[in-house]
Amino acid sequence: MNILAIETSCDETAVALLEASGTDESATFKILGNALLSQIEIHKQYGGVFPALAKRAHAENLTPLLHAALKEAGMLTEAPQDISEETRAKVSEILAREPGLTDAFLLFLSTTKHADIDAIAVTHGPGLEPALWVGVNFARALSVAWDIPIVPINHMEGHFLASLASCQGDTLTVESVKLPVLGLLISGGHTELDLMKDWLSYELLGATRDDAVGEAFDKVARMMDLPYPGGPQISKLAERDRETQRENPFILPRPMLESNDYDFSFSGIKTSVLYKIKEKGTLTDIEKEQMAREFEDAVSEVLWKKASRALDESGAKMLIIGGGVAANKHIQRLFTDMIARDHPEVTLHIPSRDLTTDNALMIGLAGFYRARRKEFKKDVTANGNLHLA
Ligand code: KG4
Ligand code: ZN
Repeated sequence: MNILAIETSCDETAVALLEASGTDESATFKILGNALLSQIEIHKQYGGVFPALAKRAHAENLTPLLHAALKEAGMLTEAPQDISEETRAKVSEILAREPGLTDAFLLFLSTTKHADIDAIAVTHGPGLEPALWVGVNFARALSVAWDIPIVPINHMEGHFLASLASCQGDTLTVESVKLPVLGLLISGGHTELDLMKDWLSYELLGATRDDAVGEAFDKVARMMDLPYPGGPQISKLAERDRETQRENPFILPRPMLESNDYDFSFSGIKTSVLYKIKEKGTLTDIEKEQMAREFEDAVSEVLWKKASRALDESGAKMLIIGGGVAANKHIQRLFTDMIARDHPEVTLHIPSRDLTTDNALMIGLAGFYRARRKEFKKDVTANGNLHLA
């Protein structure tokens, strides 16, 4: 099954083509094309993602990315095409609220032959709603023009399933999954613990009540005048401090450790950093490294304690960590050590970096399982607050 996947939920525009085969128990995904444009440079100056600019950039990027992904896959045939008035009208209507996209897409259609695609998988939530709509409408327009069915995909399910995958060269494999699987999904937009009890059936155990982990990393980085995205910057400074084994003068809270649930809260840690910086005036380079380390320690400890308790109480046999923050070295180390010590019966799986951050591969992966179930939908809508269920 050839799947075209589209992801526009945040600040990455991504289009991928996957050739998927197999079953729920054992599936293989050959990456035929994988095109991605990050908007980091656009949002840098705002210290976070600016929705209106994200929407515009997605609209500009989608057609060239589709072209690039098809080309990489060897599935691009450029030749003049007749487009019926009816198709032209429908496409224009669907893309009416995405400025600039209609002309670019109609030009693409009039110069590109229909490619051999069985399903379009598109992220319909959660995320920034205006950004999601661009991807959804693009998928709808392509669906009408090339007569390909759409499977709407939950972005978090994409992270979850991608975290179960192993990558070898240009092939992803999902097999030997031991249910139930506990997923800790940590990114710039989300922090949640989900339990996959049966295949593709989830229970949300807990989530952040305020900032997402990645968002807290980004905000703390901004307080310390570090560039966006702040996660990797904080991590770099913290690693430097770890090498020195210095005493740390900063102590930050570990919020909600004792609360009898799986929810998180990170805004208190962030505010505490702000007060400490205000107290000091400015931080020296060494103090920045120490603060980064204490912040990383506090966050990791809370994440681990909650995940550990969820493992105890759910009887999960696997633990996966997905989302951009899963790339954090200290979190990876802590989880690896603690699983070996406290839960040796649990298999920990942390996907490679390419699979943890936002991309369209993960949407294609989820698309395969949903398309196998024929979960096709005509009137797909975007929902910024979509939950896993
Ligand atoms: O999953 P992702 O690419 O996008 C979404 O937010 O959905 O995650 C991006 C987030 C950013 O907040 C970034 O600062 C954080 O992941 N991040 C990290 C690291 N690498 C990326 N946070 C901590 N340590 C890292 N090494
Ligand atoms: Zn994400």
